Amino acid sequence: MRVRTICSSIMGRISSIMGRITVARRVVGDDRGGVLWARPYQVSTPGCRSSFGVMSRAAEVSTSLLPMRIPQLGFGTWRLFGDEGCDVVVEALDVGYRHIDTAQMYGNEEMVGKAISLSGIPREEIWITTKLDNPNHAPVSARDSFARSLDALGVDHVDLFLMHWPLRDEAGFVRTWETMQEFSSDGRATHIGVSNFHAHHLEAIIEATGVTPFANQIEVHPYLVQKELIDFCHSKRILVEAWSPLGRGRAFAEPVIVTIAEQLGRTPAQVVLRWQLQRGLVVIPKSANRERIIENSQIFDFELTDDQMTAITSLHNGERIGPDPDERDQ
Ligand SMILES: NC(=O)c1ccc[n+]([C@@H]2O[C@H](COP(=O)([O-])OP(=O)(O)OC[C@H]3O[C@@H](n4cnc5c(N)ncnc54)[C@H](OP(=O)(O)O)[C@@H]3O)[C@@H](O)[C@H]2O)c1
Repeated sequence: MRVRTICSSIMGRISSIMGRITVARRVVGDDRGGVLWARPYQVSTPGCRSSFGVMSRAAEVSTSLLPMRIPQLGFGTWRLFGDEGCDVVVEALDVGYRHIDTAQMYGNEEMVGKAISLSGIPREEIWITTKLDNPNHAPVSARDSFARSLDALGVDHVDLFLMHWPLRDEAGFVRTWETMQEFSSDGRATHIGVSNFHAHHLEAIIEATGVTPFANQIEVHPYLVQKELIDFCHSKRILVEAWSPLGRGRAFAEPVIVTIAEQLGRTPAQVVLRWQLQRGLVVIPKSANRERIIENSQIFDFELTDDQMTAITSLHNGERIGPDPDERDQ
């Protein structure tokens, strides 16, 4: 029989977590009690440890202060389901992650909500992002599905609600963006944003509505550097989140990355994530393995040199894991 310890034994799990919380906070801790809150745009001294436990060259991105606070390290949940998925998300929270990325499309919002509840961590310490699924763009569907997302997650608001993909039809995704503004107006989405938007999609919604998305979650890894799009987003003060930030491991054997990892005494995964932190990106790696969950979190206590940053950036070959947003079937 499969062991399903966490979800079947709420009290035992909470007690275990409480017992380990001090240790966990040391793993990824900072001087705000272990919560990886970061302001990717606000870390102003390259190479210095900020008060949010993040070393970043994000000052190169923008020196203007944004009224945002988001844990720069998040936890991806794609393909995590059921009790096993619940265990994994509880593990991630136990390790110290305070930002969980889910989506209507993943079919796991209820599981994520359960894990958050089981963790015993106060809701206000956890950043929750979810996303509007493609069949739910019509205003009535967007409203209904957003309400269902909140129900499934067991929360009265999410920190960030994203349009998962742009529709082919520009009028369609502009209308969706207008509908989503209702959710930020009534406080049920603290921030609204988009995902998989090219610059022309962003220009269309900003021009039509005058409302700039808080964030654009896009595919970024060493083979898809996304320099122009990231520069465009940052010029509009749009936070960029990197999905598949590990590139699902595809570049881990690249000599450039292996060499840098050896030089720094780090793993390829840590080097790849660190490269993105220093570009001012939010990263949301997924792992179902506790050791790798911890490994992916230990990226705030070292720094890549400019040459190392450039070497990784030069691995770009345009290879995508997901479809190009302009070519994706709806
Ligand atoms: N907005 C969008 O359209 C979109 C699209 C895709 C993904 N996302 C979000 O982005 C998150 C992350 O992307 P992803 O899950 O596609 O890919 P990823 O995080 O780049 O890679 C995950 C894969 O890498 C493995 N892995 C994790 N840490 C590792 C390590 N330290 N060493 C070696 N292998 C490691 C994992 O295996 P194990 O689990 O066995 O460790 C898993 O197979 C998703 O979970 C989802 O939340 C968003």
